[in-house]
Amino acid sequence: DEEKDLQVRPPVVTIMGHVDHGKTTLLDAIRNTKVTAGEAGGITQHIGAYQITNNGKQITFLDTPGHAAFTTMRARGAQVTDITILVVAADDGVMPQTVEAINHAKAAEVPIIVAVNKMDKESANPDRVMQELTEHGLVSEAWGGDTIFVNVSAIKGDGIDDLLEMINLVSEVEELKANPNRTAIGTVIEAQLDKGRGSVATLLVQSGTLNVGDPIVVGHTYGRVRAMVNDLGRRVKTVGPSTPVEITGLNDVPQAGDQFMVFADEKKARQVGESRFKKQQDAQRKESSKLNLDDLFN
Ligand code: GTP
Ligand code: NA
Ligand code: MG
Repeated sequence: DEEKDLQVRPPVVTIMGHVDHGKTTLLDAIRNTKVTAGEAGGITQHIGAYQITNNGKQITFLDTPGHAAFTTMRARGAQVTDITILVVAADDGVMPQTVEAINHAKAAEVPIIVAVNKMDKESANPDRVMQELTEHGLVSEAWGGDTIFVNVSAIKGDGIDDLLEMINLVSEVEELKANPNRTAIGTVIEAQLDKGRGSVATLLVQSGTLNVGDPIVVGHTYGRVRAMVNDLGRRVKTVGPSTPVEITGLNDVPQAGDQFMVFADEKKARQVGESRFKKQQDAQRKESSKLNLDDLFN
C-alpha cells in the first residue's frame, strides 16, 4: 500500500498473563459486562475479541487463556497484536505464563503495558511485582525504566481509566495505519463447527474492508462470506481494519492463526482455495497413514 492510501486504525491490544491473574475480569471491567460469568469454570478456552470506544477512540481487545496448554494461542495473539497488556496479580507476582507472555511480546517486538491487578487484596504487593519484572527487562518508569505500569483492581474497576489512557498514548506513538480501500486480509482468531451454522470463524481484519459476499480463502478453507456478526452479536455487512468479526460460508473449519485473503474474483478464490484444501487433505492422509504404520510397530 502507498502512504497516501493509509488511514489511522484502532490498536489491537492483547491481554496476556498467568492463569487466573484476572485477564478476563479486567476485560469485563473495560467492557462493563460479564464475560467470566459465562465461562466454564472461569477458565478462558479461546481468544475472545472485542472492540470498545474510549474518548471517541476505538480499541480492539483480544483475551487469551493463561492455561499452560495454550502456548501457541498466546504466540498467535502476540503476532496479531500492536500492544500487550501484561496482567500480573499483585498477590501472586510473576509466574511461568507471565514470563512466557513477556517472551512472546518481546519476540514480536510488541510494546508491553503492565497492569498490576488485584490491588484491592490485602496481600497485594506491587513493589514485589515491579522487582520481579525488572529481572525480565521490564523496568517501571518510577524506577528509571521505560515500561508503563498501571495498578488496577479489575473487580472494583479501579485504574481502568488510567489503563485506557495509557493504551491511547502508546497507540498514538505507534502511528497505526492501514488501507481500508483494498480487498481484506487478516488472521483467524478462532474457529469452530457450529451445528446450525456450519463453519464459524472469528477473523481479525488487519487491512482492507471485508464485505458480505466476498470470495475468500482462509487457511486451507474457502467460500463466500455468507453472513457477518460483530462482537455485540449484531449482523453487519462490512467491516474495516482492526475489527474482529464472525463469518460463515466456509467449506471447512480453519485454524486459529491462519491468514485469510479476499479475492476480487470468485473463480480465482475457488482455484486457490481448492488447491490449498487438497494439499491439506493430502497432508492429513499422510499423517493418518503414518499413524497406522506406527500402530503396527507399537
Ligand atoms: P484464565 O483465562 O483462566 O487464564 O484466567 P484470567 O486471567 O482470565 O482470570 P479471571 O478473570 O478468570 O479471574 C480469576 C479469578 O480472580 C476470579 O475468581 C476473579 O474473580 C478474580 N479476580 C480477578 N480480578 C480481580 C481483582 O481485581 N481483585 C480480586 N480480589 N480478584 C480478582
Ligand atoms: Na480464570
Ligand atoms: Mg480468562
